Amino acid sequence: MNLARQLEGKTCLVTGGAGSIGRATARLFVEQGARVMLVDLDAAALQRAAEPLDPECSAWMTADVSDEASVRDAIAATAQRWGGIDVLFSNAGNFGVVRPIAEYPLDVFEAVHAVHVRGAFLMCKHAVPKMNDGGSIVINSSVAGTRGDPGVYAYITAKHAQVGLMRCLAKELAPRRIRVNTIHPGPIANCFQLAVEQDLQGIIGRDGTQFFDEIIPMGRHGTPDEIAHSVLYLASAQSSFTTGTMLAVDGGMSA
Ligand SMILES: NC(=O)c1ccc[n+]([C@@H]2O[C@H](COP(=O)([O-])OP(=O)(O)OC[C@H]3O[C@@H](n4cnc5c(N)ncnc54)[C@H](O)[C@@H]3O)[C@@H](O)[C@H]2O)c1
Repeated sequence: MNLARQLEGKTCLVTGGAGSIGRATARLFVEQGARVMLVDLDAAALQRAAEPLDPECSAWMTADVSDEASVRDAIAATAQRWGGIDVLFSNAGNFGVVRPIAEYPLDVFEAVHAVHVRGAFLMCKHAVPKMNDGGSIVINSSVAGTRGDPGVYAYITAKHAQVGLMRCLAKELAPRRIRVNTIHPGPIANCFQLAVEQDLQGIIGRDGTQFFDEIIPMGRHGTPDEIAHSVLYLASAQSSFTTGTMLAVDGGMSA
């Protein structure tokens, strides 16, 4: 056992584990001594995500975070395999579309809230009873959870709602020393953000990627690994007195 590693012997559950930030975080968690359950919708993508990870310390399971039975099963499987859960990284996400309010489709609004709000709520609801005291919950919100922008109705309201969930939970769980925080990444160089930028491009009539680089004070997108390292900070004992807080990792975009 290498006690210099920050998550030695900890059991972690990562939703959106087949995605870009989820994969980077799972990889870092395993390097830091954790056992990680990856949860996502697509079995083939999960299998690819788990391939580079030590099979002794990783497993995957398909689950839809917006479906209560599915969430219950994923959490029960994690706890059954490795005992109590120490870290929940609630990270699954979708984006929706960018449209003026009068044209915003209700079904898209509800589908985005189903993943970010209902999904994060259900994950916390069912994970908390299985969590070890002293654990950590990290909810992946966004810089979009700290500001408004025209047309981004579903995503921005959902990302703000996650902050409300985090604040309530931080107070409820403090007596058990379970810390609850949100992380707020700025635009990341990955497919999720590229799709957002392509949608935006049609509206603003210019290159969406360049547009973001210009409004980020550090002048560039972040990387999935930079987010993973910030999640590790919140997940580990390095942040032992930090709860109920919003960590911006956005190159200064929300300053
Ligand atoms: N990429 C960015 O620039 C950026 C910036 C800020 C915040 N975020 C947030 O980071 C998180 C991860 O995004 P990413 O950039 O890695 O994108 P991604 O698309 O690579 O990963 C998201 C993952 O969530 C999974 N998912 C979606 N709905 C699900 C559901 N109902 N149940 C289970 N899994 C589901 C997807 O299958 C996908 O694998 C999201 O919450 C996103 O909102 C991303």
